[in-house]
Amino acid sequence: MRISVIGCGYLGAVHAASMASIGHEVVGIDVDAEKIGRLGRGEPPFHEPGFEAILGEQLASGRLRFATDFAEAADAEVHFIAVGTPQSADGRAADLAYVDAAFAALIAVIRPGSLVAGKSTVPVGTAARLAPLVEAAGATLLWNPEFLREGFAVKDTLEPDRLVYGVSPGDALERRPEVAVLDHVYAPIIERGTPRIVADWATAELVKVSANAFLATKISFINAMAEIAEATGADVTTLADAIGMDARIGRRFLNAGVGFGGGCLPKDIRAFTARAEELGVGASVAFLKEVDAINLRRRDRVVDLVLEELGERRYDGRVAVLGLAFKPHSDDVRDSPALDVAVRLHGLGVGVVATDPAAIETARTRHPQLSYATDAAAAILGADVVVLVTEWPEYSDLDPIATRSLAGTDPVIIDGRNVLDPASWRSAGWAYRGMGRP
Ligand code: UDX
Repeated sequence: MRISVIGCGYLGAVHAASMASIGHEVVGIDVDAEKIGRLGRGEPPFHEPGFEAILGEQLASGRLRFATDFAEAADAEVHFIAVGTPQSADGRAADLAYVDAAFAALIAVIRPGSLVAGKSTVPVGTAARLAPLVEAAGATLLWNPEFLREGFAVKDTLEPDRLVYGVSPGDALERRPEVAVLDHVYAPIIERGTPRIVADWATAELVKVSANAFLATKISFINAMAEIAEATGADVTTLADAIGMDARIGRRFLNAGVGFGGGCLPKDIRAFTARAEELGVGASVAFLKEVDAINLRRRDRVVDLVLEELGERRYDGRVAVLGLAFKPHSDDVRDSPALDVAVRLHGLGVGVVATDPAAIETARTRHPQLSYATDAAAAILGADVVVLVTEWPEYSDLDPIATRSLAGTDPVIIDGRNVLDPASWRSAGWAYRGMGRP
């Protein structure tokens, strides 16, 4: 089929290349000419494992191209909207300016009979608000939320846990013609037995935000237990292992540490509370404000631990911050706990040297005032305190003995992700501090 993807960030660029890889003819559209230029040359504008290979292959196949002009999308039978919905500058709500602009520009070129499939994460009610615009152009609107994780974006797009289609409310949702069209787009994925749920617009929109709210709650739950563990001498990692063995709870997303960040979880829970308040049901998700507060307190905790361990060395000590990305295998520093810790320590007058395998350039653009080292060894050289805040394998696998010879006298390791073995670090001569573990 002929497909357009509007918005070529993590979501859209990966979706465009993935749709080309299953045989469709795809044009990716974005207003950012530099990004489109890079994508068209096969250069990923962000770090995402496996993306460069699929991008190169699909450009070479001739099925994938990129453009800045919406007119290039005119021929497509299905249009995916994949633009960002960041937190608004003046509050908790999502900023829908990119969504509204994408719809306006697309509607001007769209053909009657085509399908518009929204993938962006939007406040519930957005599809119902935009549908009249789409219908006036003779097209149909469906909401098809995306659940991809950064670092696994290609795999999650081509091998999703489930597909969710949101159609206009009413009867016989499964039998809508637009459902058959999207089934055709995703045919190889559906044929593999991937579950597919057809719902109304509001349910589909809510599936996405409630999934992220649940994941954020799970992380903040275990981080709250870490706070209790800190007050009692208990070990939150053992606690997580034990409660996680109950299949009803599950061990995944129970890793206590410096907390969640990124372009999705933090802004999605904030937008959810703002939207619920608009709808008069703010009390229903008011607990998400506590989820947010617990999460942000873990950043304070890491900063406090560093200051405590530096003690009198506060202004002449040296602190190595390992990690800047919000999670490993990504160069994304949006709302990154790791970058936040580095910036706050620097702001407190602490001598910080930060490093990351992929995110130095994205961090430097936002925070040129920080000192950056090219790798862990260079950052740790002469450090009094080493803080691990993004669990890249190269940091989790650091050898405590070899690392000890690089650091200063009486060094301290602060394991902000609970990924190191306390005993082996202590026996190599480090003072070890974890997050909610002795
Ligand atoms: C998330 C959702 O997982 C995905 O389904 C949705 O489409 C987009 O938002 P992503 O932002 O890529 O994906 O990251 P995710 O893997 O969910 O991690 C989010 C944050 O939580 C990271 O900062 C991570 O370090 C943190 N995290 C995760 C924890 O602190 N503890 C955990 O146990 C798991």
